[in-house]
Amino acid sequence: MSDLSGQPQPNESPTYYVETYGCQMNLADSELIGGVLTGRGYRAVSTPEQADFILLNTCAIREHAEQRVAQRVRQLIAMRPSDRRTRIGLAGCMVQHHRDRLLDAIPGLDFIVGPDGYRRLPELLDADAPVAEVRLDRSETYEDVAAVRADGVRAWVTIMRGCDRFCTFCVVPYVRGRERSLPADVVVDELRTVAAQGFREVVLLGQTVNAYRHDDVDFGRLLRRCVDVDGIERVRFTSPHPADMTPATLAAMRDCPQISPYVHLPVQSGSDRMLAAMDRGHTVDEYRRLVADLREAVPELALSTDIIVGYPGEEDGDFEATSRLMDEIGYDHAFLFKYSRREATRAFKLDETVSEQEKGRRLQRLIAEQEARAARINRTLVGTVTEVLVESPARRQPDWLAGKNPQFKTVVFEPHGAEVGDLVDVAIEAAGPHTLKGRQLVA
Ligand code: 5AD
Ligand code: SF4
Repeated sequence: MSDLSGQPQPNESPTYYVETYGCQMNLADSELIGGVLTGRGYRAVSTPEQADFILLNTCAIREHAEQRVAQRVRQLIAMRPSDRRTRIGLAGCMVQHHRDRLLDAIPGLDFIVGPDGYRRLPELLDADAPVAEVRLDRSETYEDVAAVRADGVRAWVTIMRGCDRFCTFCVVPYVRGRERSLPADVVVDELRTVAAQGFREVVLLGQTVNAYRHDDVDFGRLLRRCVDVDGIERVRFTSPHPADMTPATLAAMRDCPQISPYVHLPVQSGSDRMLAAMDRGHTVDEYRRLVADLREAVPELALSTDIIVGYPGEEDGDFEATSRLMDEIGYDHAFLFKYSRREATRAFKLDETVSEQEKGRRLQRLIAEQEARAARINRTLVGTVTEVLVESPARRQPDWLAGKNPQFKTVVFEPHGAEVGDLVDVAIEAAGPHTLKGRQLVA
């Protein structure tokens, strides 16, 4: 910490501030970074002004994500007080993507570190010239690093890193490297730790989480071991790949009530032509059958997906097929993206065939359709009772509480004695596309 002059005081622990962009994997990585740094005596602070070291953990998935970070880091560099040598750096996927040019492109940047380099952060922070640690390491899992998690009811636990699928549009395999899984015992120990810390829900994380395999433990077996951990009421995972969804995983979901009846199952497109062009490894029909099997195994299942519009070669007919598939499946939620051409990917060499304007039009149509669909689905829940894991006061009505139900829908409700961390029954009285509203039932 510093005194009023802003100068760091001797004998006080150096402070760091992390800002996270992108997906849940990045949030979990920021918690690992916290583990590495607090293990070396650094202390977290909640604003950049208080920090000796500022780190932005970045995303490279779409160009827009990178532009936001570039703008933010330039702003932080410009705001850096001249009398205080705060060191500013970038971490994560965007670093890996632009590893050879970032330090030159952003004057004033002190260090850059890719997703497999976080153990070396203390050295990077101490260096007195700009430094880079951008090697990918096929075996790095950080399995011995204790993550520092923010308080809450839900803990994110990384069980595998990297991706071997190389979908044509996607930069992840290039920036996060090859697939590797943590030993099952390490995962289960981590679940025991978070349960002892008071977390009630865990989300198992991986780029293709259901491709998990370590020795003879596959994802289905891992799930069964996870639900046995005392104190963990709900187990969820994200994101599975449709082509890696095995009967063993479906059986675990069928048999274990602790596994949330909610799956985020990216489909990207409803057109076989596009799925083949993207090299997704399955057809529309195979996806349909998988959804039918999942729903048979877990009747109350909620589903969400990722969709890309405007991939090179996407014609009106392909787009209409996507719109129809979304309707047919009846997604509870969808993350909808305009295709963004990424250097290093296989699709980078393809000319874009869909204009920005047309991508925008397709996106807006899917958004409107999805809003209406979600509202329709959610309205069928009015009059039912659902179990809510209470997370926080409701944003707009602070005397109400908010949490998620097993289908991972946000529920805000009028409480009758409930507190954060409780599991309570809520009678649903109203519903919109993104939220259910109700009142707590008194036992
Ligand atoms: N352009 C647009 N969306 C992308 N995604 C991944 N790569 C791209 C890209 N180049 C989307 C996919 C993926 C999600 C995490 O991000 O839908 O499932
Ligand atoms: Fe990217 Fe495909 Fe791997 Fe998902 S499965 S991270 S979309 S390459």
